[in-house]
Amino acid sequence: MKWTIGALLKRATEILRERGSRSPRLDAELLLSYSLGFKSRVELYTNFDRPLTEEEVENYRKLIVRRAKGEPVAYITGRKEFFGFSFKVERGVLIPRSETELLVEVVYERVKDKEGLKIIDVGTGSGCIAISLCKLTKNKHEIIGVDISEKALKVAKENAENLSCPVEFKKSNLLKEINEKVDVVVSNPPYISFDDKRVDREVVKFEPAVALFAGKTGFEVIESLIKEAREKLKPGGFIALEFGEGQGERVKELLEERGFKGVKIFKDLSGIDRVALGVKEDV
Ligand SMILES: C[S@@+](CC[C@H](N)C(=O)[O-])C[C@H]1O[C@@H](n2cnc3c(N)ncnc32)[C@H](O)[C@@H]1O
Repeated sequence: MKWTIGALLKRATEILRERGSRSPRLDAELLLSYSLGFKSRVELYTNFDRPLTEEEVENYRKLIVRRAKGEPVAYITGRKEFFGFSFKVERGVLIPRSETELLVEVVYERVKDKEGLKIIDVGTGSGCIAISLCKLTKNKHEIIGVDISEKALKVAKENAENLSCPVEFKKSNLLKEINEKVDVVVSNPPYISFDDKRVDREVVKFEPAVALFAGKTGFEVIESLIKEAREKLKPGGFIALEFGEGQGERVKELLEERGFKGVKIFKDLSGIDRVALGVKEDV
């Protein structure tokens, strides 16, 4: 049988749906446009009736097999869109999530009219938060991304270079290697407890544990980070943190216990509390 783009997409979508993908059509499209070297998925539709060679079908089949076994699309294609920018990702580095765009928005709103702030992104991973902030603020601030993972730092540096962003990246356990006072601490830290059964098996199998799990309660990293941020922030500076479903109240308490003022919680697009912001009082 001679496959066309349209027919192959339909078949791949059925296979991925049967294998439990939550977004079978999107996955099928992303993988086919990647496999054919297209710049965007739109090209699939402008070439819908184009027949494919046997080699093209075979290459695509291999990708669909990987996806059907649970490998995330972003690790297969090596790319993930975040805030409209394309980031390189690979095994060992967390795939940026759309929820995290809220964290970038919350910080951007508060720094967009200022200049020369020192902003630290803790647990930078692919660098998606630090680099998006750098792009959005047009290099007006000094942004540093830190991570405990060498692999994450390598990928983050490549992303900064590809997106022409002068973000500095540094190995550090939370803020321990930051020796000066800063204006903003932003972080999407690990916040899942070891025995949280809600985590997708696919995520646990393919994504790095150090990026996901925080300890017995899930608050261990957040708690240490809030404590360290209290020491490193300048008076009037702020911390913005992402956290998991159901953690908002405790994160608010932790911030207030450490003396942060005006603590606010922001909801993501699904209406779930997702980001906390606290200001270090002027003293
Ligand atoms: C949830 S991921 C976030 C990655 C990226 N910022 C994002 O939003 O996609 C958490 C990141 O924190 C890093 N990390 C975990 N423990 C850390 C620590 N103690 N100090 C610094 N980074 C840490 C992990 O390597 C991982 O890259």
